[in-house]
Amino acid sequence: MQAPLVFRLGYVALNVTDPERAAEDTANIVGARVSVRESDIIMLTSNQRHAEMILYRAGENSLRRVGLEAVDADAVDKVRERAEAAGLRIISTTPSFPFIRKAVTFLTSEGHAIEVHTPMPLDQPLRYHGPGAHPRFLDHINFAAVNPRQFAEEMHAATGLLLTERTTGYEIMWMRAADGRHHAVAAVKGNTGVHHISWEFESIRGLQTIADGLTVEERGLVWGPGRHGAGDNLFQYYVDSAGFLIECIAEMEIIQDLDMPPRVSDPGENLSNWRVVNKWGALPPIEWIEHFNECCPQSYHE
Ligand SMILES: [Fe+2]
Repeated sequence: MQAPLVFRLGYVALNVTDPERAAEDTANIVGARVSVRESDIIMLTSNQRHAEMILYRAGENSLRRVGLEAVDADAVDKVRERAEAAGLRIISTTPSFPFIRKAVTFLTSEGHAIEVHTPMPLDQPLRYHGPGAHPRFLDHINFAAVNPRQFAEEMHAATGLLLTERTTGYEIMWMRAADGRHHAVAAVKGNTGVHHISWEFESIRGLQTIADGLTVEERGLVWGPGRHGAGDNLFQYYVDSAGFLIECIAEMEIIQDLDMPPRVSDPGENLSNWRVVNKWGALPPIEWIEHFNECCPQSYHE
């Protein structure tokens, strides 16, 4: 199998009604810090990369666009060719931001906007002061899709992301990029949008700091801590100030084998198979299962 043209998740861009509050919440709870602050856009990062989470002032809270980092500039051209060959709509070949050198943005057939771009500049200080748990990086996004199987086929066709694992009926599927992490992109069956966005921490101590930070504002976790079967990662989830479901993880499985056949797991009816869903035992609550934020169609034209 060819190596993916994408190395890792690049950024997640969100529409939010109150970017100041969303940035403050992300800084206080997660511990990412603001790298760019303009009147209608705030960017946050947790490492040297210029931006990982990008907040646009908007009329609603929704997923705007997702950036995937190409392995190099040539890979951006290949993604463009492959997306066109797969019949996907290219909506831009101009990078979304001046600090990105080269990019192509396409839509999945359901309408998820994906920008494949050259790597983020490493122009921010590695270490910084501030509250929260200071993640290592924004590590994966779990989309929601009407047809996760088609979503996986389109993402593989356009970007070479590899299917790592899926459930028996493609209710959930996980794809890995060239860095080998079990998943950088996932999709769960539902409507077209996003289920959750994930930050990775050095260890479970980061998850403890997050949970304790939430208690300061009398907020709590939605699910976890636990350990997922798919990815073997430690996890916990909370809902941020803008209503997005945020996952905090550590210890994601790394898979070096490009030819590993996709795993098939059986999550049981309503995710009742705890051996797959949470090795530590507690099943997800209905708030987790039903969580959903939509994609915003009007933001594709910018
Ligand atoms: Fe996840």
